[in-house]
Order: sequence, then structure tokens, then C-alpha cells
Amino acid sequence: MEKILNIIGSEAAKAFDECGYEEKYGMVSVSNRPDLCEYQCNGAMAAAKAYKKAPIAIAEDVTEKLKDRAIFETVEAVKPGFINMKLSMEFLTRYMNEMLEQKDLGCEKASQARTILIDYGGPNVAKPLHVGHLRSAIIGESIKRMGRFLGHKVIGDVHLGDWGLQMGLIITELKKRQPELVYFDENYQGEYPKEAPFTISELEEIYPVASAYSKEHPEYKEEAMEATYQLQHGKRGYQALWNHILEISVNDLKKNYEKLNVEFDLWKKESDAQPYIPEMVEDMKKGGYAYFSDGALVVDVKEDGDTKEIPPCMILKSDGASLYNTTDLATIVERMKLFEPDEIIYVVDKRQELYFQQVFRCARKTKLVKEDTSLRFLGFGTMNGRDGKPFKTRAGGVMRLEHLIQEINDEMYEKIIQNKMTQNHEVNPKEARETAEIVGLSAIKYGDLSNQASKDYVFDVERFTSFAGNTGPYILYTIVRIKSILNNYKQQGGNAKTCRAKLFDGTNESVRSLLLETVRFHGVIENAFADIAPHKICSYIYDLANAFNHFYHETKVLDEEDLEKKESYLALLVLTKKILECCIDVLGFHAPEKM
Ligand code: ARG
Repeated sequence: MEKILNIIGSEAAKAFDECGYEEKYGMVSVSNRPDLCEYQCNGAMAAAKAYKKAPIAIAEDVTEKLKDRAIFETVEAVKPGFINMKLSMEFLTRYMNEMLEQKDLGCEKASQARTILIDYGGPNVAKPLHVGHLRSAIIGESIKRMGRFLGHKVIGDVHLGDWGLQMGLIITELKKRQPELVYFDENYQGEYPKEAPFTISELEEIYPVASAYSKEHPEYKEEAMEATYQLQHGKRGYQALWNHILEISVNDLKKNYEKLNVEFDLWKKESDAQPYIPEMVEDMKKGGYAYFSDGALVVDVKEDGDTKEIPPCMILKSDGASLYNTTDLATIVERMKLFEPDEIIYVVDKRQELYFQQVFRCARKTKLVKEDTSLRFLGFGTMNGRDGKPFKTRAGGVMRLEHLIQEINDEMYEKIIQNKMTQNHEVNPKEARETAEIVGLSAIKYGDLSNQASKDYVFDVERFTSFAGNTGPYILYTIVRIKSILNNYKQQGGNAKTCRAKLFDGTNESVRSLLLETVRFHGVIENAFADIAPHKICSYIYDLANAFNHFYHETKVLDEEDLEKKESYLALLVLTKKILECCIDVLGFHAPEKM
């Protein structure tokens, strides 16, 4: 379906043209003074300069033409030259019925589908998932879903961190604890055991211990670095251990991400990019891009017009070892080769922004990507606790994701039980647990996504789990409320799915506001994706849910005696529900049947 703004815009463009002005002045936007009008066109002001006429005269000319068009109820020229528009009920009704008829609410798919690879999640093997990885997973998943909804081919890659010092640390600590393991036997030639010599809990205990110990003991760190080097250069026993670590970690990660309703198409790892490094480095040298500076191989990436110093991108250290940079660049080579993406989006902590700026510039300069391949960095802010400091456990440690989810679910469970009790409903603890999980996820995800990604935000369990205000549970509550009305209607023998709006009472402001919110849907999704900004979808559904609850407060639906009116209201309910459900699906959560 054509977007509402485009329909109004082309009417306005036509009117400008008929009056002898260029069509381009017919740009329309949603009014920023909803008390005065619904949509507005400010083109007369710009046209005034070009045609050397008073803006109000132009606005009046154009308004005269627009007045009689069926889509408008009123059109007014207002000093100094605004054109204020209010849509006709008839047009709005027709538009909403069409949304109900069409697949995906009539959302048009991209005319040119792009291949977009999203690099998100970014957990590190053998280190427990912590809240920092939560944001990347939640935001990335939502962008992936938006892109797919709009018809793009989107590939999500978890890009596991499996190539760093953490591997050497774990190997070193294991060797210290169990030197007799066959993996450490230099003379061993046979096959290594299929079973890992540790469980995931042991693994997760090992890493922090090793990491802390290495900070105090340089010789231990030295050993870990050596082990990392040996691993990276193919030492058999270490590689066998690394495979165990990987397998156990990945299984555990998959479980965790599943709980978050986050799903990756690719489980690629930093190590997968390593084979691409030698040729990439050779090409960078041959192309004259890379040169040695203090023994290290670097590529200059500063550009004219930089306001701050952008240091060179380091490709190889002086001992020939590769770095995080090298891996990321080689990963770009790999991705271009395997998927030929039109765009790669990185959803990573915003503290890595400068780093990615270097990587992107280097990739472009050394021609790892095509000229029109877009590389985008979506940096997110820190998730803070109520004290304004990075989120920690009560004991002050790094909060593990699992525990955080548990905490939210428990809080949600309490609220659901309380809510039921105050409403004199029966409580089924098992059901309440299941509902708490669904609603809990909405609390976490909406709490995150409703903030502009780049901003830091306060993770406030109390606020996020509230049924009132700008929260996930409030949105779900609204959906559940509509479901229950529709169920009652069904019990009366009706079928709301086939209801279509006939005509609404044009003077009913709460109906009007709700209708106006529903028809904005397509524009909001498109705009949110263009700006990779899930928070725009959140703020839209918050407005929509508010408009619905206000309407429902003012209107009797099932008790309405006028059948045409009643069915019109029901159609509006179905549409509101569909939009909310579609939007939360794009955000990555869903609604329960009851709550
Ligand atoms: N593993 C990294 C971290 O924990 C994040 C990876 C981000 N993606 C990338 N292509 N560098 O910081």
C-alpha cells in the first residue's frame, strides 16, 4: 500500500503544479501541532522565495485546489504560509480497511532487496555472557527482523570471539591443575578423547581465576601468551582442547540466546577469518597501502578534514602476530567472498567506534569492499544500574545474563500473581511462571530498545516490569486486553476478523486519534529501519497503545447497539492488535494469551 504521507504528498504536489509552482513544494509532514491539524505542508514558504510572492498567497492558491479533494475534511491556509490539513473520515476508514485486507498490513517490500549482514552478539567463547552482550543481541536481532520484514535478505552473524588470549589463559590454567591430561603430552600421537575434560560450569570458573591470576603474575601471563601463540600455530593438543572449549561454549550460548529469542544464521568465529590473512596482507603491501612503522605493519587512514587525530590501522604487530584489527579486516574479506553483502552493520559497544572507523577506512582504502558496499557502525551505550554506574550484581561482580533474566522473571511473577489476586482471579502458579517468562522478556527487550541505542540507560527492574507507563508489559497488557474483548465477542457468536469499518462518527476525537495512529504504521517501520533505530518503533507503539486505551475508556464496544458502529469499532480493535503484534515481533518478543 502506498504510505499515507505519500498519498497526501502527491495530492499536494499536484495542487502546487496546477497553480503553476513546482511539484517539489508539495512536501507534507505529520503536524507538530496536533491540536491545530493532522498533517501540514510548509512548501509555500520555500516557494515564496523562488517565485517572489507572499507565502500566504501561494498557500491560499494551493489550498483552494486541495479543499475539494475527497481525502481531506478540511484544508486551511494559515499565516505566514502554512497549509494545515485534516483527513476525511471516509478516507481514513477506507485506508484502514485496506490494511486489514492485505498481507503484512499492506507494508510494501523493498523494490530492490539488499543483502545485509549484521554482526551482533559478539560473545567470547569460554567467558560467561554478561549484560554488555545483552544489548548487542537485543538491538541486532531487532534490526535483522526489521530488514526481513521490509523484504531484504538479512544474514545475522554472531561473530564469536574465539581467538584471543582467553584461550591461552584457559589452557595454561588447565595445565596447572591437570598436567597429566593427554593434551599436554608432547609425545602423544594418537587421537584425543571425544569428551571434554571439563563442564561448562568448570570452564566458566576457570576463566576468571586465570584472568585474575595473570594480572598478578607476569610469568603466568607470559605462559598464557605463549600457549595462545602455540594454539594459533597449530599445536595439536591445544587445538583439541580449543575444540572442546568451543563446543561446550557454543552449546551453552545457544541455550542462552534461545531464551532471549535471538537467533543467528551464522555461527562464524574470529578464527574462521585467519586463513584469509596472509593473502590480504600481501595485497595490502603490493597495493602500496601498508608500510612498516617501528616494525609493525600499518595502513594510514587519516583523511583531509578530520577534526581529530585518526591513528593508522595496525595490521601486524612487530612480532608478526595478528590483532583484533587484522581479524576484523580478514572477516570482511571472508564476508565479501561468501555473501557479497551490499551492507554490513556492526552492533557493538560504542567505545569501539574509533576502532571501527579505522577498520572501515582501511577496508575501503585497500579495496576489500566494493565502492558501494556500505559499512555501518551502530554503537550502543552502557547499561547502568540505578546508581548510574555500569550494571553489577548486588555483590558488585559482573552480572551474568542468566541471572539477570531470572531476576526479571521472578519480579514479573510476583507482579502477575498480585495483579490476579487484586482482580479476584484464580492463580495457577505454573501458568503464571510461563506468563512471567514471556512478559519478562518484553520487559528486558523493550526496556533496552525504547532508548536510543547510542545512549547509556538505567536498567531499572522495578520500572521495566511495571504494567503502566512506557514499558514492554504495558504494551503486552494492551494486546491482551484487546484479545479478551475479541474473545468475548466470539463467545457472543461474532467473528471480528471479518468485520470492516463502515463509517465512524467524525466528531469522536478518541476514534480519530486512534485511526491516525494506525495509518502511520508503514512510514514508521520504514523510517526506523532507514535510521537503524528500533526506539522509533517503541515510541510509535507506545503512542498507539495510549490512543487505544484512551479510545477504549471512552467507548462502549461490545454494548454498542448500532451494529455498523459496533463492527467498525471491532475492526479498529483487530487492526490495532495486528499492528502491535507485528511491531513487537519485529522488536523480538511476543504477547501471551492472558496475563
Ligand atoms: N567479542 C567482542 C567483544 O566482546 C565483540 C565483537 C564485535 N564484532 C566485531 N566484528 N569486532 O568486545
